[in-house]
Amino acid sequence: MAKQTKQPSAYAELFDTFRRAANQNLKLQSQLLYDWTRVWHRSEGEPLSLLNPLRQMQQGWADVVMNLAKGQQEVIDQQFDAAIKSFETLWPQMRSLSASPSSPAVERPVVASPRYQEVLEEPTSEPTQVVPVSDRGHVMNIAQRVAVVTGAASGIGAAVARDLAARGARAVVMVDLNDQVHHTASAINEQTGRDVADAVIGDTSNAEFRAKVFDDAAARHGLVRICVPAAGITRDALSVRLDKETGKASLYPIDDFRKVTEVNLIAPIYWAVEMVARIAEDRRRRGLKKWEPAEEMEGAVVFLGSVSSQGNKGQISYAVAKAGLEGGAATLMKEAIFHGVRCGIIHPGFTDTPMARALGDEFLDKYVLPFTQLRRLIRPEEIADAVCFMISNSAVSGELWADAGWHPPA
Ligand SMILES: NC(=O)c1ccc[n+]([C@@H]2O[C@H](COP(=O)([O-])OP(=O)(O)OC[C@H]3O[C@@H](n4cnc5c(N)ncnc54)[C@H](O)[C@@H]3O)[C@@H](O)[C@H]2O)c1
Repeated sequence: MAKQTKQPSAYAELFDTFRRAANQNLKLQSQLLYDWTRVWHRSEGEPLSLLNPLRQMQQGWADVVMNLAKGQQEVIDQQFDAAIKSFETLWPQMRSLSASPSSPAVERPVVASPRYQEVLEEPTSEPTQVVPVSDRGHVMNIAQRVAVVTGAASGIGAAVARDLAARGARAVVMVDLNDQVHHTASAINEQTGRDVADAVIGDTSNAEFRAKVFDDAAARHGLVRICVPAAGITRDALSVRLDKETGKASLYPIDDFRKVTEVNLIAPIYWAVEMVARIAEDRRRRGLKKWEPAEEMEGAVVFLGSVSSQGNKGQISYAVAKAGLEGGAATLMKEAIFHGVRCGIIHPGFTDTPMARALGDEFLDKYVLPFTQLRRLIRPEEIADAVCFMISNSAVSGELWADAGWHPPA
């Protein structure tokens, strides 16, 4: 992936927030542009190494605003309230920047709009009343966010990465053991016409690798705010198998049980908490404490459960791991919202991926399709669409069953 201009992360965050705020309201856009320009005047005297990237950002920002201005005139008034709320989020960040020794001084802007002025009256106080962020509620924009998707070489992970890229994610870090992930990432970059997909090869159950992926992603693209840990394996066998000849019973291999639990349960949870931890630290750096409803969402996690979490013959280890993920998701959902991160779990039914195809046509025809209302396998793109819905619609929490009406036979 092409290397981007390296910018100080605080400025990258600030720029991101400006962009999000501006997407919501043109009137505020022009006001922000005006203030932004004024703020930059204050940066005279800064070292050139800092000033040049900042000026590039300023120019980029001006271009964005001017382009948006052409097409959005009619939505100004309806969206003004939403933009005001966005600015409330932005303002403490600008203030914290001004406190940083390497940052240009940021003065409180003097502005004409009375409503805008209202927002600035108490820039550091906790919000005293909760006003809906917009008529559409909290929307976690995928556009411009950095995402990590594991198991992204094929199947559902690949489809999720493709969908996130198509929805304008700034970067999608695609993790997989299989080096096919490079081809998948290249295809996404070709389709989208930009260097959005970044392939990384490694084992998701390796803690050092995991931390490095997040470190590298932050350095190259910015803080990771979307995590879809989709890597998974199966090791299917009956829990007790009776040999017809000898009458001897054998137990499900415990090493397989451990392996499936490691990859399908423990690893996804740790990929999620790795992201939550970094968001928590970032909020702390910005002087933010408990997430407040007036703020934007900080991030989202969607785990890949399975219909098998309800029990499925021959899947003792897989079903246990997926059922365990439900508990993990439910607990993180309660804990991570403190830092503004939502968690959910999707339970796909049989989806047309290498994992499901490995069951064989005979098995699918006999045990899957007759019990599936749609009488077909689910397409990975359908699961990806549901995952993106769970990420972007903040009213959705908990579990989503995307099973095409499959119910396991007794
Ligand atoms: N396909 C289905 O019917 C179905 C149904 C319900 C849930 N799921 C779940 O969806 C997720 C994706 O499954 P899929 O059907 O796309 O499977 P898939 O086999 O097509 O893809 C899984 C990917 O994970 C990768 N992977 C496995 N172990 C890894 C590891 N330790 N480190 C890095 N990468 C690893 C594989 O290389 C593979 O590319 C899994 O968690 C699976 O359990 C699938």
